[in-house]
Amino acid sequence: MKMSIAIDGPAGAGKSTIAKIVGEKYNLMYINTGAMYRAVTLCAMNEGINPDQVKELCELVDSLEMHFEKENLIVNGVDVTSEITMPLISNNVSKYAAIPEIRAKLVELQRSISKKYSVIMDGRDIGTVVLINADLKFFLTASAEERARRRYEELRTREIEVDYETILNDIIKRDYMDTHREADPLTKAADAIEINSSNVDINGVVDIISTYIDGILN
Ligand code: CDP
Repeated sequence: MKMSIAIDGPAGAGKSTIAKIVGEKYNLMYINTGAMYRAVTLCAMNEGINPDQVKELCELVDSLEMHFEKENLIVNGVDVTSEITMPLISNNVSKYAAIPEIRAKLVELQRSISKKYSVIMDGRDIGTVVLINADLKFFLTASAEERARRRYEELRTREIEVDYETILNDIIKRDYMDTHREADPLTKAADAIEINSSNVDINGVVDIISTYIDGILN
């Protein structure tokens, strides 16, 4: 049976960690759409292209071949997985992700992957735009403080110099931009199942999602 699962939610809610585990458990291809917006941001910043240079950005996106190898994102043959999660990219990605022309191109690519494979896809507009007919939709939340704490720990583990207040401010700013933009803003789909993970650990969330998946498999 071909299956598609959508996971949306604000920055640092644990979407990618959960999607990776659930994807492996049920043999679904994990598509991290945030990584795709981050990769466009990285390449644009490397080329000195600003968010208002829409024509140049579209040409840039057309020149990028992106695919996932397990959870790693390869862009024009280069593994950018680690670089795209650096704070400089996090601070700028929402400006590039708000551009409708860029979104249209990435959404098309995301949909084309979902037509070929069973997927678990995470992002901001998966349940509302990309996979409107997903078999299951989840909306993962947690308090901004808890999300900032998790992101802080993750970056510190990777020995990246950060401070908690800066991360918290970035998360609050990014949430605001992502929920208030005109094109495909972050919002919970009417048919999405909301999971607040503030007081539930990773395994707990995986268990909740697994119960729903088992329900449609049986
Ligand atoms: O990992 P984190 O939750 O911090 O964010 P992400 O999933 O890597 O997404 C980075 C940014 O890309 C978001 O803040 C959004 O601005 C944008 N994004 C989007 O607009 N639509 C998506 N489907 C996924 C990400």
